[in-house]
Amino acid sequence: MPAECVLHTRRLIVRLPRLEDAPAIAAFHRSDEAHMREFGPTTAAEKATEFWEGWIPQIRDDFYAGVSCKTFLYEPDDRTVFGAATLSSILRGRFHACFLGYNIAATHEGRGLMREGLQALIAFAFEELNLHRIMANYMPRNERSGRLLQRLGFVVEGTARQYLWINGVWEDHVMTSLTNPAWRAPGLPNLSGL
Ligand SMILES: CC(C)(COP(=O)(O)OP(=O)(O)OC[C@H]1O[C@@H](n2cnc3c(N)ncnc32)[C@H](O)[C@@H]1OP(=O)(O)O)[C@@H](O)C(=O)NCCC(=O)NCCS
Repeated sequence: MPAECVLHTRRLIVRLPRLEDAPAIAAFHRSDEAHMREFGPTTAAEKATEFWEGWIPQIRDDFYAGVSCKTFLYEPDDRTVFGAATLSSILRGRFHACFLGYNIAATHEGRGLMREGLQALIAFAFEELNLHRIMANYMPRNERSGRLLQRLGFVVEGTARQYLWINGVWEDHVMTSLTNPAWRAPGLPNLSGL
C-alpha cells in the first residue's frame, strides 16, 4: 500500500483522516444528519468526537493493511469536512475489487464537488492501489447517486433485491461497477537466490 492517501483537486482535498480531525468529522455528521436520513442514516455514535478519536487509528491501520481506504472531503483549508468517500472491503486474490460509498453535505450538493473528489479517489484506486473493479450500489429512487455514477462511467449490472437494511426496510439496490483498463497483473514471485 502507498504510505498515505492525500489527494488535492482544484476545489478540495480528499484524504485519510488524522486524529485531530475527529471534532470536524463529528460536526459534519451532526450538521448533515437530516440530509442523510433517507439513504444512509447517521448513527448516534458518529455524532460524537470520542467515537472518531477511537476509530481514526483503526481507519489508518485498515488502510496500511490494504483492507480499506476511508477518506473525507475537506475544504482547501484542510480542516473543514464536508463529505466522505470510502473504498471498502478491498479483496485481492483473483478479484482485486472493492466497494465505493460516498456522501456530501447538503450545503455542498449540486456543485460537482463529489464528482471531482471521486475522480481523484478512483484514479488513486486504479493507479496506486492497482484495483481492477470498483462496485457502487444505490437505491433506484436515489437519482442523484445514479447520475453521479453514470457521469463517472459506472455501468449498471443489474438489481440486487433486498440488498441493504436501511430505516427498517430491506432496500433493493441498482448494482454498478467501473473496471480499470490499465490494471497490471501482479508479477511472478521473485525466485532469484533459490
Ligand atoms: C449522492 C450525492 C453524493 C450526489 O452529490 P452531487 O453533489 O449531486 O454530485 P456531483 O458532485 O456529481 O454534482 C452534480 C451536480 O452538480 C451540478 N454542478 C454544478 N456545478 C458543477 C461543476 N462545476 N461540475 C460538475 N457538476 C456541477 C451538476 O449539474 C449536477 O447537478 P444535477 O445532478 O442536478 O444535474 C449526494 O446527493 C449525497 O450525498 N446524497 C446523500 C447520501 C447518498 O445518497 N449517498 C450515496 C448512497 S448510494
